[in-house]
Amino acid sequence: MSIIQLIFFGLLVPCLVAQSFNQTHLGFPDSWDGDKYRELYCPSKNIPKWLDGYFLCQLSASYGNSSAPDGEKLSHMIDAIGAVGSFHVSNGQVVFSAQYYPARPYKIWEFYDRNMSKASVPFAGWSDYNLTAMSKWEQVPANPDSARFHPNLDFWKVGNRIIAGTEAPYWVGYEFDVRTLQKFKLFPFKEENDIFSTPRHTMIPISMAIHERNDADGTIWGSFSAMNFEEQRFYQGIFTVDTNGVRRVVGLYDYGAWDTNACGSNDEYIGDKTLLPGYIHSITSTENFVILPITSLLINPCKFKEPPLNNIRSAIQKGGLWGMDFYDMVPMRFLIFNKKTLEFTTQKPLEVFPSMFVTHQLNAFEAEDGNLVADMVVYDSHDPYIKYFYTDFLTKQLYPTTARVLRFTLDSKKQRVMYNYLIPQETISADFPQFNHNYEQKAYQWGYIVQHPFASGNSILKINVDEPAGSRNLEFRADPNLVLHEPWFVQKPETKKEDEGVLLVRGLDTAENKGVLIVLDAEKMVELGRAYVPISIPFGFHNRFFSKKDLGLPEGFQVGPSQYRPMDKKQGIATLPLKKITTILPSTSTEIPTTTTTEPSSTTTVPSTTTTTTPEPTTTSTTTKLTTSSSTTTTTTTPEPTTTITTSEKPVTLTTQTWTPPTTTTVKTTTVTLPTTTTPKIPRWWPLAGSATTEQPWWQKVQTGTTNTLPPLFPVSKSVEEKKVSVKPNESDNKVVEQKPTGGSMDEIYDQTLTALCSWIPKVFTSISNELCFKQGRTAAKWMAPIAQSYAERFRMGRANRKTSPNDNPNIQPSLKQMAFDPLQQEPIRFG
Ligand SMILES: *[C@@H]1O[C@H](CO)[C@@H](O)[C@H](O)[C@H]1NC(C)=O
Ligand SMILES: *[C@@H]1O[C@H](CO)[C@@H](O)[C@H](O)[C@H]1NC(C)=O
Ligand SMILES: *[C@@H]1O[C@H](CO)[C@@H](O)[C@H](O)[C@H]1NC(C)=O
Ligand SMILES: *[C@@H]1O[C@H](CO)[C@@H](O)[C@H](O)[C@H]1NC(C)=O
Ligand SMILES: *[C@@H]1O[C@H](CO)[C@@H](O)[C@H](O)[C@H]1NC(C)=O
Ligand SMILES: [Fe+2]
Repeated sequence: MSIIQLIFFGLLVPCLVAQSFNQTHLGFPDSWDGDKYRELYCPSKNIPKWLDGYFLCQLSASYGNSSAPDGEKLSHMIDAIGAVGSFHVSNGQVVFSAQYYPARPYKIWEFYDRNMSKASVPFAGWSDYNLTAMSKWEQVPANPDSARFHPNLDFWKVGNRIIAGTEAPYWVGYEFDVRTLQKFKLFPFKEENDIFSTPRHTMIPISMAIHERNDADGTIWGSFSAMNFEEQRFYQGIFTVDTNGVRRVVGLYDYGAWDTNACGSNDEYIGDKTLLPGYIHSITSTENFVILPITSLLINPCKFKEPPLNNIRSAIQKGGLWGMDFYDMVPMRFLIFNKKTLEFTTQKPLEVFPSMFVTHQLNAFEAEDGNLVADMVVYDSHDPYIKYFYTDFLTKQLYPTTARVLRFTLDSKKQRVMYNYLIPQETISADFPQFNHNYEQKAYQWGYIVQHPFASGNSILKINVDEPAGSRNLEFRADPNLVLHEPWFVQKPETKKEDEGVLLVRGLDTAENKGVLIVLDAEKMVELGRAYVPISIPFGFHNRFFSKKDLGLPEGFQVGPSQYRPMDKKQGIATLPLKKITTILPSTSTEIPTTTTTEPSSTTTVPSTTTTTTPEPTTTSTTTKLTTSSSTTTTTTTPEPTTTITTSEKPVTLTTQTWTPPTTTTVKTTTVTLPTTTTPKIPRWWPLAGSATTEQPWWQKVQTGTTNTLPPLFPVSKSVEEKKVSVKPNESDNKVVEQKPTGGSMDEIYDQTLTALCSWIPKVFTSISNELCFKQGRTAAKWMAPIAQSYAERFRMGRANRKTSPNDNPNIQPSLKQMAFDPLQQEPIRFG
């Protein structure tokens, strides 16, 4: 064999260890019951003893039968029934446990015996949904502490407390006892601000970036969008949460009042788009500044209404994105907020072309020349949301090669933004970046990112951000059957070197259909140790490790009734399926009239639960008897068609769940794949710094073809001084609004909102009279997201198909678009 052949062969090897979407359906289970074991001992080897804490994982855990018809299954990762998984790592041992969040969709699913077909997917979302089932459940009063959405995107740390959260600005998510995965409750913020503490229609938070930033002292920086429904004015807010859970709104940027006459056909906003906020999933921060990347996915107020029915003959409606539009011609914008003076540094956002969508952040810091440097994962569009996170997509193809890992350099003095690439590839199939968070806000060198997310045989790429040619980058690839998820870096105690520590990575072995926890040496990117979970663990979004020290818990492990207890390694697996299966039955209304008032009369029977446990169980029978009798008449009123479906239900369910421990041992010898370095290659486009400016102001292009030729109205930025609350806010006023029963101030606020709304809606939609607006207002409450509901709910609804319009032209920088289209991925994606 010649040298050339050897080299050629050597280059081919990485391609032979290909990633695969084969078997990835295992990551999207029908009905995952991993929460039924209180603790699962995970046989492990070589887990560093200094790791002492909890590796928490956000799980998108149950979907329903993927072969079931639309309306009887969930098909998007954001919709899936949310759960938290926890690896308790201590003294070299690992125990896994999990719990579903007691969110409303979960409770409905649980009520229907965890059968999505029976539940008829009555919760709105990205998946197709059943309008009839939804209207039925809308009438049922929410249980206290039953959030509308699964808070399964990320975790926040407030003092010693952990919040599992989603993008709902009011309640963010659940606080819970990390040790036991119990005591879930909506996080009780102490609202020292007049936006969250006194809801009013003139300032309604509609969306929030789930990915926050933390100062060394534990202060959280977050951001939200809000709208003044009276003046049709959008704001971008900045808040802090201190270690005691006190939330303060410290800055408000006023986008200006949008033009209610500028709603074109197809509900397109044809006015000045600088007046609209863009969706923000993550923010970033340096020592002195918070940086908000405002994506080109704009909140479209013309779609602040119920999405049109896509099928008037059926109760099944298409799910998807509603309420936001991605504009190929709107630049990415940056707002920069000074954390010390509490002012925005510029009166208008900095802009950079082309249009962009940002998912996640690496680090950010202040460069010596005073510029701000911020590294992030950028896409050409919001395809990750509207395409990639659909289960149909991820089980049929690889995550596309469309992400860019970019370094933005923000120069507020010269009002300009430059960017360059941090890796040799222009686009890469990767997301979920991480870094050593001890280096947050400081100059840093190393990032870690998941390559080929959600595919088996995928890898973690270690990126040297100082050398975009990539010659020092390293890649860790485990077995071909393993799907690796977002890593989390933990610094080794008493070390200073940035990459001296480990990466915790959870994975799914698709051959065994079992979870694993892998510990990597973050410096060399080789496997150090591994723990085998005796059950499958679904895919999900973000993961974080919290040491016991972080949480103020005693270090080491305690033996207690609900604590970790090392067991004999019989067959390598010992399980304690002690958890009682509890079915919480939502009150069922006996009749649901077309009017807005409901008489929720509870006809539920508390389930009797018998749990049989043997110390070393081979079979555990849990019998849940669930008897409910209800007769429900549901009438769905929608703007035009009226569907009346009468249902008579008498679900009497007798379920026996049996769990048999796996008979095979999962202990295997660990195969460590040697790290491969990425081929060094100086990209033609690097560095791009300085070349990212455009000749012509973008708004002129956006407005081409419309009569609206107004120059962009950059409203004067207002760093709104927080009205100093002299009196300490009444604690009982701080309660999460959603928890309040119907009636009372919630209704008042909503009525005020409706009044404001109906003063302009008829102007925009001439077919809607003022009376009709009011009449439909209540029906549409779920779309309007008045107070406690997140904007997320609205934008998860309706059709994803964006109507094209004259304004919605192809990208002005087609060169950047080219790479994004892989002909192999042209398979039509069904999303609306
Ligand atoms: C998919 O994976 C299964 C189980 O690992 C294997 O039997 C099958 O041959 C694979 N199919 C393809 C097309 O790779
Ligand atoms: C899923 O649905 C298909 C087709 O409707 C059916 O054949 C299959 O048995 C179902 N699977 C389960 C686990 O219910
Ligand atoms: C779920 O409910 C459907 C409809 O009632 C039923 O046909 C199916 O067998 C159930 N699936 C399971 C796994 O019980
Ligand atoms: C929609 O939901 C209702 C109420 O749960 C149910 O009776 C009906 O069968 C569902 N329709 C479809 C097409 O799944
Ligand atoms: C706080 O508000 C509640 C209800 O609004 C009221 O009953 C209570 O007296 C108030 N407490 C104080 C100290 O003002
Ligand atoms: Fe995220």
